[in-house]
Amino acid sequence: MVAGGSDGIGVGFARSLAARGLSLVLVFRRATVLDAFAHEVRGAYPVEVRTVVLDLSEARAMARLAAEAADFEVGLFVANAGGDDPAMFLERNLETHLALVQRNCSSVLDGRYQYRYTYYIESLRSLSGSSRSAHLRDRRDGRG
Ligand SMILES: NC(=O)c1ccc[n+]([C@@H]2O[C@H](COP(=O)([O-])OP(=O)(O)OC[C@H]3O[C@@H](n4cnc5c(N)ncnc54)[C@H](OP(=O)(O)O)[C@@H]3O)[C@@H](O)[C@H]2O)c1
Repeated sequence: MVAGGSDGIGVGFARSLAARGLSLVLVFRRATVLDAFAHEVRGAYPVEVRTVVLDLSEARAMARLAAEAADFEVGLFVANAGGDDPAMFLERNLETHLALVQRNCSSVLDGRYQYRYTYYIESLRSLSGSSRSAHLRDRRDGRG
């Protein structure tokens, strides 16, 4: 199961897993992009590809996902849905931060219980988590 599997890093994960013979559940929001990529993978590898259009920033998104992929045994979950708002930390509104917490934390934790998968890959983190990124500072006083 690849959360955020149509663009960027997620595409690389999905292709690599399909090449190893693993069937895929690909999750993200833009139906047109997702379906085009799924079509490409189906043509290239003899695996099943399920697409689920879902916003992982929504509460209980994982419960909906579980219902849509109930017939899949999920052994590996790739937590990759995301991309960050480049605005300075305090210039983002609170809802933006809360949506990110839901998408990157609550949904991922919920998925752990839904699927009880054995393997997990996370690309959500960024070097900004371990360095004094300007994006984490308040531009007005420069404090971290
Ligand atoms: N690229 C880097 O150098 C880098 C470095 C460190 C960490 N990361 C992290 O790795 C992850 C992927 O990065 P990327 O560069 O590949 O990003 P990307 O090209 O923007 O791809 C993000 C993927 O996640 C999906 N997505 C975004 N929000 C979603 C949501 N709320 N619900 C479901 N799917 C959602 C997007 O599709 P839709 O828009 O259709 O939903 C897209 O497929 C991000 O979390 C990023 O912070 C990236």
